[in-house]
Amino acid sequence: MKILVTGSEGMLGQAVMTRLASTHELTGVDLADADLTQADQVQALFQRINPEWVIHCAAWTDVDGAETAREACLAVNSLATELMVENCDRIQAGLTFISTDYVFNGQGGVMGYAENEKRDPINYYGLTKARGEEAVEAMKGPWQIVRTSWLFGDGATNFPKTIGRLLKTRPQLKVVADQRGCPTYADDLADILGFLVSSDKRGIFHGTNSGQCTWFDLAREVAGLISVDAQRIAACPGSEYPTAAERPACSVLQSHRLEAAGCPERDSWQGAVARYIHLLESGQARHP
Ligand SMILES: NC(=O)c1ccc[n+]([C@@H]2O[C@H](COP(=O)([O-])OP(=O)(O)OC[C@H]3O[C@@H](n4cnc5c(N)ncnc54)[C@H](OP(=O)(O)O)[C@@H]3O)[C@@H](O)[C@H]2O)c1
Repeated sequence: MKILVTGSEGMLGQAVMTRLASTHELTGVDLADADLTQADQVQALFQRINPEWVIHCAAWTDVDGAETAREACLAVNSLATELMVENCDRIQAGLTFISTDYVFNGQGGVMGYAENEKRDPINYYGLTKARGEEAVEAMKGPWQIVRTSWLFGDGATNFPKTIGRLLKTRPQLKVVADQRGCPTYADDLADILGFLVSSDKRGIFHGTNSGQCTWFDLAREVAGLISVDAQRIAACPGSEYPTAAERPACSVLQSHRLEAAGCPERDSWQGAVARYIHLLESGQARHP
């Protein structure tokens, strides 16, 4: 299928461009090619590429920065998504919108959120992604919303990479132990997206690695993988690291619809982190 991938230089976009290259005809675009908040640029892009499907990975992902740069964040996450919907409908292309666990308030408990639960974001980034979801749901043609969480992968920065680096220079670390979610390897999410697009599924899906943990658990896992004593990492409450944007306490995503759709079994978050750390430690990462 002829697929337009937005945000193709981002962490997920790069993984999609790599993992789906052998099964689809991909065209990747990023900010240098077109500013997706500009209607004329989006229209010109669709005219030039004429895709059958769009995987819309481009986003404003600076969760804390979003609290002050509200207009810019809204433009990328909501307005650009509305333009995607409009242009996909105009040329009868399908759309996959990547969304987030942050559309939920985090009070749902450890069982996590089902796909159809009510959106109730507690930070501005989450609000703009929720608006993007609403725009996609109003689309006339085929659409998918794929919510993911705690993304890591071969990109400039991500949590496992940061922890690995800090552990090499600091004797002790404190990591937040009262926020819970589902870590997700961008490569594995790209495979999930490939499955959903190729099998023409419709609606809202949750795409993560299997299992759930806290940031503290994830940090200790990284320590074990780089042969550092995990006891050097201590647990602390989120209140010790105040951030501009509030984070949901528990934003675990249930993936029942993905499983019911027949998606191949997903790796555990531990297995996924191990593969990523191996990539980093063996010097094979594009972004060491
Ligand atoms: N990262 C996470 O933990 C996480 C968690 C849940 C959901 N998600 C969602 O997953 C998706 C992928 O995230 P990611 O971490 O791969 O994001 P990312 O690395 O920040 O990549 C986003 C890409 O979008 C581009 N972009 C931003 N504004 C644009 C504009 N106006 N026009 C065109 N392109 C623009 C960025 O370009 P510049 O870099 O030049 O600005 C960047 O290359 C996003 O939808 C995000 O909301 C991410």
